[in-house]
Amino acid sequence: MPVIAIIGAQWGDEGKGKIVDMLAQKARVVVRFSGGDNAGHTVINPGGEFRLHLVPSGIFYPNVDCIIGNGVVINPAVLIGEVDQLRQRGVDTSRLFISDRAHLIMPYHILFDGLEETLRGGKALGTTRRGIGPAFADKVARLGIRTGDLLDKDGFRERLQLILDCKNPILTKVYGVAPQSLEEVYRQYCQYGDFLAPHICDTTSMLTEALDQGKLVLLEGAQGALLDPDFGTYPYTTSSSPLAAGGCVGSGLSPTRIDRIIGVFKAYCTRVGGGPMPTELTDEMGSLIREKAHEYGTTTGRPRRCGWFDAVAARFSTRINGFTGAALTRLDVFDTFPRLKICVAYRLEGRTIDYFPSSVVALEKCQPVYEELPGWQTPISHIRQYDQLPAAARRYVARLQELAGCPVDLISVGAQREQTIVLSDIL
Ligand code: IMP
Repeated sequence: MPVIAIIGAQWGDEGKGKIVDMLAQKARVVVRFSGGDNAGHTVINPGGEFRLHLVPSGIFYPNVDCIIGNGVVINPAVLIGEVDQLRQRGVDTSRLFISDRAHLIMPYHILFDGLEETLRGGKALGTTRRGIGPAFADKVARLGIRTGDLLDKDGFRERLQLILDCKNPILTKVYGVAPQSLEEVYRQYCQYGDFLAPHICDTTSMLTEALDQGKLVLLEGAQGALLDPDFGTYPYTTSSSPLAAGGCVGSGLSPTRIDRIIGVFKAYCTRVGGGPMPTELTDEMGSLIREKAHEYGTTTGRPRRCGWFDAVAARFSTRINGFTGAALTRLDVFDTFPRLKICVAYRLEGRTIDYFPSSVVALEKCQPVYEELPGWQTPISHIRQYDQLPAAARRYVARLQELAGCPVDLISVGAQREQTIVLSDIL
């Protein structure tokens, strides 16, 4: 049985939750490996609609173990709230396992995220203000606190004291805000620790065991490749790697164990927050896509910036992730559109380029070169076979596949699990 990574191929919000939920039917383990509660994965299944931020989307299957890997930063209050809500709605959360190496989002991380964004003024990144960047920064600066630390209360207190001794002078002297109270944070996080303790363990050995027993493992990506801190539109990125390679570092799985990497692409592009997006439509067409597809953030409720499919970015994403296949979501959003556009190249300072520039200054200047295709102007949400799609829809899919450089394995034509067209069996 293989390991399959499900990766956001654009700027996040591609509909990974639905794809993971669908594939998890046959999986035994689902692992979140990056990001934190900045992610919002919507899953619609026979139990209703669920918005998950931290709990892996496999939680709805009684035989699936769900792991929050070491590469995730965890706000324990959010995680506990999510677990409580799932329990209230009858979902069994006893198979949720949390890596003892995963870092915690602390109250000062959320404070710093807001303070730093305010300081950036007009150049704000548009973060989700969940403390993600500051928590990952502390991880690398070796000033982090991990879930495993909560299991040793004396050790935790000592570490928290040391860290607050570094953080409080910055809060008070640089930002002029109140210091964090050791007692309050300690007491609060000990309570969180008591709640989460039964779930915290060494998840790497669980993974190895699952693989040795031939179980199907899904790596559930968060955010999207173009938000990667190395390859995305830096500095307008997130702070952990959403790439397939991040799936290894963030879970403790060897790169040799990954068999398939599925890039999840929306049939168009969206982005939330700041930073360049060459195909962004600021006109009525952009609003039309936003309203038809209800493109508002799951985590922050912010309207998403919408635009045509960017095949230059898609090709880049395929290359840096090594996608073996693609899942194309929300194709039905275009059901009423008479014509569709695909960005096939950029015009940059009088030249036509076919690569995704590393500099946001250059990317801001890129003008999309479009190819136009006819729309299908008929509903497709009821269709389950590829050959029953209207010819214009097949042509659109075929062209995206050709330009993005990887075969389309799945097409999603609606939010429900069954509203999916399988072109090639991934499992
Ligand atoms: P942060 O991850 O909260 O620091 O935000 C950095 C950038 O990533 C901002 O532009 C966010 O809007 C964006 N971002 C973070 N998480 C997601 C997500 O799950 N979907 C889409 N954009 C995201």
